[in-house]
Amino acid sequence: MTDGDAELEARLAEQEVFEPPAEFVEQANVSDPEIYEEFEENWPECWENAADLLDWESDYDQVLDDSNPPFYEWFTNGDLNASANCLDRHLAERGDEAAIEWVGEPVDEENRTYTYAELHREVNEFAAALRDQGVEEDDVVTLYMPMIPELPVAMLACARIGAPHSVVFAGFSADALATRMNSADSEYLVTTNGYYRRGSPLDHLEKANEGLDDVEQETTTVVVDRLGPNGDDFGHELGPDQIDYDDLVAAHEGATVEPVTRDAEDMLFLMYTSGTTGKPKGVKHTTGGYLSWAAWTSQAVLDIKPEDTYFCSADIGWITGHSYIVYGPLALGTTTMMYEGTPDHPDRDRLWQIIDDYDATQLYTAPTAIRAFMKWGSEYPEQHDLSSLRLLGTVGEPINPRAWKWYYKHIGDESCPVVDTWWQTETGGMMITTLPGVKDMKPGSAGPPLPGLDVDIVDTEGEEVSPGEAGYLTVQKPWPGMLRTLYNNDERYIEEYWAEYSDVDSDDPDDWVYFPEDGAKIDEDGYITVLGRVDDVINVSGHRLGTMEIESAIVGVEGVAEAAVVGGDHDIKGEAVYTYVTTEDGYEPSDDLRARITEGVEDAIGPIARPEEIVFTPDLPKTRSGKIMRRLLENIADGKELGNTSTLRNPEIVEEIQQKAQD
Ligand code: WT7
Repeated sequence: MTDGDAELEARLAEQEVFEPPAEFVEQANVSDPEIYEEFEENWPECWENAADLLDWESDYDQVLDDSNPPFYEWFTNGDLNASANCLDRHLAERGDEAAIEWVGEPVDEENRTYTYAELHREVNEFAAALRDQGVEEDDVVTLYMPMIPELPVAMLACARIGAPHSVVFAGFSADALATRMNSADSEYLVTTNGYYRRGSPLDHLEKANEGLDDVEQETTTVVVDRLGPNGDDFGHELGPDQIDYDDLVAAHEGATVEPVTRDAEDMLFLMYTSGTTGKPKGVKHTTGGYLSWAAWTSQAVLDIKPEDTYFCSADIGWITGHSYIVYGPLALGTTTMMYEGTPDHPDRDRLWQIIDDYDATQLYTAPTAIRAFMKWGSEYPEQHDLSSLRLLGTVGEPINPRAWKWYYKHIGDESCPVVDTWWQTETGGMMITTLPGVKDMKPGSAGPPLPGLDVDIVDTEGEEVSPGEAGYLTVQKPWPGMLRTLYNNDERYIEEYWAEYSDVDSDDPDDWVYFPEDGAKIDEDGYITVLGRVDDVINVSGHRLGTMEIESAIVGVEGVAEAAVVGGDHDIKGEAVYTYVTTEDGYEPSDDLRARITEGVEDAIGPIARPEEIVFTPDLPKTRSGKIMRRLLENIADGKELGNTSTLRNPEIVEEIQQKAQD
C-alpha cells in the first residue's frame, strides 16, 4: 500500500455518509427527489409507473383490489404475457443486440451470445416442444438446472405457454428436488447431464434421476447435454421418459408459438423457500404484479438502460436470479450476463476478468462474495480495467461498513453508487434501498424504503419504536411484487406472514400488516439497518436455510437422538450451520457418526447446508417446558457471554457444551 492509499483508507474508515456521484446522478433513470412525496400522495395509483414499463394486451381496470386482505390483487383484469414482454416487443429495435451474454466456466471454451432474435427463436421452439410433450396452461414445470442458457430459455418458454415454472437450485439434493416436485404435483422436469465446477465436469443427472425415483406422479424429463463428450464417463443413458433437449428443439426448428394471454393475477412461477417448519414453502408470484415490480426496481435501483451490459453474479436457482438476471433486465431490453462457475476459477480474478472483457456496467452480488474478494486482496481487481462499471449492488444479508467501503473503493473506484438492497423471495423484488440517483448512502444501512412503500419498525405490540432502538420490520401496505399466497396453502400464508401484527378477522386492509420475520432499526433520517432473521431461519452465504429442515435430516441419521441447529458467526459465509447432537443409547460420538450426519444433511438438502461444526453433548439446554434454548446455543457458537441460565431445566449442561464446543 502506498502512503496515499493509507490516507485514503483512513478517510474512508471515518466517513459515514456518501453522496451519490454527480456524474451518476446526471444520467440516472430516477434523479428527482420529489418521487417519494409524489408516490405517497398518489398511492396506489403511483404503481401505474411500474405497470407502464410493460406491454399489456388489454388494460387493467383497477391498480389494486384490496377488498379481501391479505389476498390482494394488482392490475386486475389486465392481460399480458411475460415472455412477450421480455422478448417479442424488443425484436424491432433490439433484435440483433445481445439479450444474454453467457460465460461458461472452462476458460478455453467458446462463450455464447444470444441476441434477442436468437433467444426469441429458441424460446419459441422449446415452447412448441413442451406443448408437444403435453404441457398445458397452468401445469407446473420443474427446472432443476445450473447456470446454463437453457435455464432462462426454459423459464421464458414456460411463461410463453402459461405454464408456471418452479426452479430448483442445482446445488440442492435429490431429496429436495423430489419434495418440491411432489408438493407442486409437477409432471415435467427439465434438467441437464451436468455442469462445470472448478474445472471439472459434475454429474447432475445422477441426482435428478435419484430424485425422480421418489416423485409420486408420472413424469416426463428433458435433459440438456451441457457436457458433451466430457460427460461420457458418467455413463448415462436417457430413460424411456427422458428426451434430449437438442433433439427436441431441432424437431421444432422454426416453430412459433403465440404467447398465451395471461391475466395479471395468473401465476408466473413458484419458488420454494425455507421457513420455520421442516417443509419448504411454495411462494406464488404473478404475471402482472411481479413482472412490473422486477422491471420497475431494475430501472429505478439498478439504473438499467437498454444499452447496458448488466452483470448479476447470483444463481437463477434463487429469487435474485429470477428477478435480476432474467425477468427485470429482459423486460427492459438490456443485455444480461450469466456466468456458470465460481469466482475463483481458474483464478481469483475471474469476475474482474469478465467485467473487463464485456465492459459490464453494473455488478450486483452478495456480501459473502465481497467478503471473500476482500480476503483474497485488492491485487485481483487491480489487474483489470473496471472503469466500465457505473453502479454496484449487494443483496442477501447485511453488509458490514468495512466490506461496503472495500467494494466502493476497490471495485467502484469511488465513482459508483453502492445499493444495499433488502428484500426476500416473498417480496418479489427490492423493498428497502437507496435510490442511487437521489439518496446519500450510509454503509451498513440498506436505506429508506423505496417510494410507495410503507415500512415501520415496531415492538412486540406493533407500536413504532424510537430511532436507534431495535425492533421488528413490518410492511404496512401491499405492493405489486408481493407473493399472493403459499401454493395450495392460504392458511399457512396468513399464519406465516400476517398473523403476527394483523387483525386477522378484519376485512379492512389497514388492519393487515406484513411481517418478514427480520429484526431492524431505523435512524433519524429514516434509514433502516436490517439486523437479521428473528425466526428459525439462518442465512448461510446469503442463502436461506431452515434450521428445522436440517434438524429433521440429522435426527433421521441412525444413532442420533436429538439435534439442535443454529447459525453461528462466520467470517465469509456470514452465518454457518452449527449443530448440537445427542446420541441414542448404544451409540457413542465418533468420526463415523459425524460423517454420517454430514452425509444425511447433504442428502436431504445439499452441500450448502453442510454443518460447519458438530458438537456431541449428553443433553441439550432446555427450558422447564422442554423447549430447546437456541439463543443460548447460538451464543455458545459465537463464543459470547451467556447471561442468565437459571431458567433452564438443566443449567449444568451449558458448561459442558461450552467445553466441548471449544475442543
Ligand atoms: C432474507 C431473505 C433477497 C434475495 C436473496 C435472499 C436477508 C436479504 C438483505 C440485506 C440484510 C438481507 C433478510 C431476508 N436479506 N437482503 N440487503 N440486508 N438482510 O432472499 O432467501 O428470501 O432471504 O435475506 O433476512 O429476510 P431470501
